[in-house]
Amino acid sequence: MIRACGVGVSYGAVRAVTDMSLRIAPGLTVLSGPSGAGKSTLLRVLSLVERPSAGEVYVRDRPTSRLSWRELRALRRKEIAVVFQNPADNLIGHLTVGENLRAAGATDLALLDRLGLGGSAAWRIGALSGGQQQRLAFGCALARGASVVVADEPTSQLDARSADLVLETLRSLPVPALVASHDPRLVELADLCVPLVAS
Ligand SMILES: Nc1ncnc2c1ncn2[C@@H]1O[C@H](COP(=O)(O)OP(=O)(O)OP(=O)(O)O)[C@@H](O)[C@H]1O
Ligand SMILES: [Mg+2]
Repeated sequence: MIRACGVGVSYGAVRAVTDMSLRIAPGLTVLSGPSGAGKSTLLRVLSLVERPSAGEVYVRDRPTSRLSWRELRALRRKEIAVVFQNPADNLIGHLTVGENLRAAGATDLALLDRLGLGGSAAWRIGALSGGQQQRLAFGCALARGASVVVADEPTSQLDARSADLVLETLRSLPVPALVASHDPRLVELADLCVPLVAS
């Protein structure tokens, strides 16, 4: 669905990513590696937020390097849902849980049960724990109808128990997911783990 072919990203003299080829496969793909290895950079490139300095990103076998920023944004909106590290950044704080899901495009709230959030439709976002917010963020990503979910360190701001709940959600996502993480439990859960080394 989305693949990077020989992708490199340089910021002046800093080579953040060198010659990476990667396909977002069905199931859960985890990008692991030490701080500075280029995980977030590669995620931004694969989610069409940033253009690589070298190589090509294909979406449904279509190369994206010749697309305008406007076309890239339209493609991203249609195909890719991004879940940010900070749970609150993924949700609309003044809306309820149900309203957030509806705003993302959900036509019914059955998804809440699947997320372990049954009965919380009328709750304010502030009444949810960080882990519950992050699960709802993945729910909103699904409600948007994205073909792929991309998440950068989705468990890093959560305590161990909250992180466990998010891992459960990640394991059961019905669309391919690409996640960058240091979390060894996430690496263990991955269908495919792509280790990056600092260059
Ligand atoms: N916008 C930028 N301008 C300049 N250098 C950057 C920029 N973004 C990233 N870098 C550099 O690229 C390298 C890779 O950074 P990146 O954030 O992708 O690493 P990471 O693997 O996500 O690290 P972490 O685990 O700490 O989040 C680092 O050396 C970083 O300083
Ligand atoms: Mg990072």
